[in-house]
Amino acid sequence: MLTQESITRKDFLRSMGLGGSALLAVLASCKNASDVILPVGGITVDLATKLLTTNSYIYSNGVIIARTASGNTASSFVAVAQACTHAGTSVVFQSSGKFHCPNHGAEFNTSGAVTQGPATKSLTKYTVAVSGTTLTIS
Ligand code: FES
Repeated sequence: MLTQESITRKDFLRSMGLGGSALLAVLASCKNASDVILPVGGITVDLATKLLTTNSYIYSNGVIIARTASGNTASSFVAVAQACTHAGTSVVFQSSGKFHCPNHGAEFNTSGAVTQGPATKSLTKYTVAVSGTTLTIS
């Protein structure tokens, strides 16, 4: 019997009766998943100490958070999934206002949409809120 601590995705799918090619198809469909599970309450960032300058960015819990403009308002920030939808490399934020993947060159706009391949799927975009100097991603 498998316990919660020892079960893997592969073991779980096998326990569901999936095997062989069906198992491979399910695992392949999960390969490029870039969505992340945010912590309860979202991600918080102290704007008094982080993201102080335009075009700066940080990674937190699988999300890249970038400052696109001055001022501590929600419209000055953007947050998208960190993992490139092509093969999972961490994207970076460039002064051109795009997210760039250094692995194979894919680019995404601040809505997370692909602007240059080889990626074909958008980065998930998250909601940004600012209260005082606390930024919250949900
Ligand atoms: S991993 Fe990002 S373009 Fe290939």
